[in-house]
Amino acid sequence: MNRTSDSKSKLVTQRPDTPSGRAVHPVATLRWEGGIDGHLVFIDQTRLPNELVQLECRDITSLWNAIKELRVRGAPAIGIAAAYGICLGLQSASGGSGAACLHRLQESVDYLATSRPTAANLFWALDRMQRAAAGLEQLPPVAIRQRLLEVAQEIHAEDRAICHAIGRLGAELIEDGAGVLTHCNTGGLATSEYGTALSVLFSAQDDHKNIHVFIGETRPLLQGARLTAWELLNRGISATLICDSAAAQVMKEGRVQLVLTGADRIAANGDTANKIGTYALALLAHAHAIPFYVAAPLSTFDLSLPAGDAIPIEQRPAEEITRGFGQQTAPTGVDVYNPAFDVTPAQLITAIITERGFIRPVDRETIQKVAGS
Ligand code: MRU
Repeated sequence: MNRTSDSKSKLVTQRPDTPSGRAVHPVATLRWEGGIDGHLVFIDQTRLPNELVQLECRDITSLWNAIKELRVRGAPAIGIAAAYGICLGLQSASGGSGAACLHRLQESVDYLATSRPTAANLFWALDRMQRAAAGLEQLPPVAIRQRLLEVAQEIHAEDRAICHAIGRLGAELIEDGAGVLTHCNTGGLATSEYGTALSVLFSAQDDHKNIHVFIGETRPLLQGARLTAWELLNRGISATLICDSAAAQVMKEGRVQLVLTGADRIAANGDTANKIGTYALALLAHAHAIPFYVAAPLSTFDLSLPAGDAIPIEQRPAEEITRGFGQQTAPTGVDVYNPAFDVTPAQLITAIITERGFIRPVDRETIQKVAGS
């Protein structure tokens, strides 16, 4: 497998739409074009909010890079992209036997699994693709590839339905007039469409509830400032951007009635990994007696891990902190620690909103009831 070639991706650049009422973003977060020899097109999230750029991804190495560089990001979107990435990885496996095709599948799974370590959805999607191909080695490679493309499309379509279900269920938690603090980006960009935590807010808006959202900018890569602010403005939701470090003050001023975030991996006891800074928000919410909710699909649960200390935490390059977005902001040579995620203990989480209902209280037993099997 060629891991050195960079991208054959082609850029399609458009100006972003100006904020316009309730419009969703004008192009799909991800879409597959064509049949088994087709390609993946997705929004390059590193270019927002200044430019809306779609990347055409035609090989697995480009896709691996896109995940690593957060061009496609957010736990569910990473899982969907990886499923299509398997289809890209198998495009060179048409000539040989079914067994050779499955060997290439294993290589592709192992390769994509090294792109980012924390989001459970990546491993969940790779596992589902692998299981779908089990026992198919007697079939010609084209038939195996056709089946796997169908499974990737199923994963994609199911995520749409799941996001809308989470939104509908979660909206009941949002009272008219509520102030909501959110972190990172959990909207349509992070999923197939609509989102997880943000879908709850979009559904509340559909119910004609007035809400005001405080968006933590989400240092160091500013997913809140760049992406969540863009999505909320596009939908006409009243929102205020704050520095991450302003959260305590905003809570103390009584502006926040609930905190709502997404998740990257949830252990069997409910400990939840999410974007760095989430744990601090949960502690602050607890100190101010504000409910702290997590919205996540069942594909984000990893019941093989007993508790959050077993969740692998991605370490990102120092330059994201010292030289974010090309501007040197710290002296060369300074020591840096840059974990991309932290783990919020289950006891700080009021409830987890899933497509199958609420997990409340957040403990091993309730998780097993809702997310088990
Ligand atoms: O590093 P990122 O931008 O991929 O981190 C994303 C998050 O932390 C999200 O909150 C999480 O994936 C949930 S997305 C619905």
